[in-house]
Amino acid sequence: MNLKGRNFLTLKDFTPDEITYLLDLSAEYKKKKQNGELHDTLRGKNVALIFEKTSTRTRCAFEIGAHDLGMGTTYLDPSGSQIGKKESIKDTARVLGSMFDGIEYRGFGQSIVEELAKYADVPVWNGLTNEYHPTQILADMLTIREEFGYLEGLKFVYMGDARYNMGNSLMIGCAKLGLDFVACTTPEYFPNPELVEICRGYAKKSGATIELESDVAKAVQGANIIYTDVWVSMGEPDEVWKDRINDLTPYRVTMDVMNMAAANCIFLHCLPSFHDLGTGIGRQINEKFGIEEMEVTDEVFESDKSRVFEEAENRMHTIKAVMAATLGA
Ligand code: CP
Ligand code: NVA
Repeated sequence: MNLKGRNFLTLKDFTPDEITYLLDLSAEYKKKKQNGELHDTLRGKNVALIFEKTSTRTRCAFEIGAHDLGMGTTYLDPSGSQIGKKESIKDTARVLGSMFDGIEYRGFGQSIVEELAKYADVPVWNGLTNEYHPTQILADMLTIREEFGYLEGLKFVYMGDARYNMGNSLMIGCAKLGLDFVACTTPEYFPNPELVEICRGYAKKSGATIELESDVAKAVQGANIIYTDVWVSMGEPDEVWKDRINDLTPYRVTMDVMNMAAANCIFLHCLPSFHDLGTGIGRQINEKFGIEEMEVTDEVFESDKSRVFEEAENRMHTIKAVMAATLGA
């Protein structure tokens, strides 16, 4: 398998075999890291990390992953560069592409990261856009594979706003890798029909199914994985909170929901999560709307069904694998 020189913009661009290869490579790097084996085979290379939105996991995963591979990193924060304000994406791509061996981009529209990739002449990695979050899916799939030992045939239920980056990317990942995907939410929050059709095409080949279901009990019956994400994503206006709370509260992941699933069902969440009052936004929402938990209850989040911190650690191993494979480590 040779992915050298490839961009990593959406999983739509990768075959099931290529995705599996990246998961296998991630597992190898994880073992090396656990054994304290050095793997700095990309010494002398440098990567640029552009973040137009904030991040904890993705930024740290790219930085540690790059450093472990022997590379230097330059972090461009949401306000600290000329990007988009004084300099076009096309010009930025050509400037950074002339200095760096790879570029990570987190920001708004998918078209931005695509434009960056078009003009940079070095691999570009999507660290999250409004539409997709492909590196997250690798970590999620690695976590699921570690738990169950396999992926094909597992039932994966996504609850909440399924129209955005996480819902879209999880549906693509499940369809390609053979997991039965259910978007469990009100019809207004189902993924866009065009993407559903594309994923049904992938599913036909992998043996997966794609279902859109508003009845929670029906959706989670037999589920092996229940996944959710924040109800309001980065970059969305504060005014949407009220409607999201009204619309998505029925799709909160509670212990009752987990108990309706298969006995071996695990809970996953890309994080960050509003599961208690430990965040500034959580407290503001609590004052305004009187709720203490949002997309998942604290009970589920902290329970022995939750694998969210294993999943977060896997961001680093999987992002490292993406950089290594595309830079030819
Ligand atoms: N899951 C995820 O992408 O987290 P960050 O926003 O902290 O990078
Ligand atoms: N949907 C969330 C994912 C965060 C990792 C957001 O875009 O803010």
